[in-house]
Amino acid sequence: MSRIAATFIPTTGAKTNTRQRWGTLIFISLFTTLALAATSAARWDQVPTKEHTRPNPFAASPEAVHAGAILYRDHCQQCHRADAGGDGKKKPSLRTDHVRAATDGDLEWFLRQGDLGHGMPSWSSLPEAQRWQIVAYLRSLQ
Ligand code: HEC
Repeated sequence: MSRIAATFIPTTGAKTNTRQRWGTLIFISLFTTLALAATSAARWDQVPTKEHTRPNPFAASPEAVHAGAILYRDHCQQCHRADAGGDGKKKPSLRTDHVRAATDGDLEWFLRQGDLGHGMPSWSSLPEAQRWQIVAYLRSLQ
């Protein structure tokens, strides 16, 4: 990786040709992509073990999935879209391997915390049962 970087990044003072410019651009986008992937993987790493292993009391309940769908429509759809596919920009899809990799406990914990700094509200004001119903709904999409 660092050897590739050294090859592509134009040396100071050298006349930058088009190939070098493209190289730099490719390197920067690759780096950004890797950095972003590392950040989002870290999300579930931050979940305390006790929360991580908490089972969804409504797992596999069709009624909970139905209730979760209504809650999703009222609270989440405006950002994550009706099909949970995200907006292709800052509001992520919820049908990804990353969300699939989370345990039910991880998701319930994250809904409680939110990530306001990045535009995801906290849902700690909802009753806990409703957060689990939303988690059951998210699972049904995957
Ligand atoms: C105001 C817009 C907004 C609303 C409403 C919203 N979200 Fe989010 N959500 C975001 C943004 C922006 C992120 C990305 C935050 C980040 O990168 O840290 C996010 C991230 C997430 C993630 C993490 C995805 C991942 O791949 O790590 C989940 C899960 C999630 N939201 C579920 C929900 C659910 C369920 C609801 C409804 C209860 C909801 N969100 C409501 C904006 C929103």
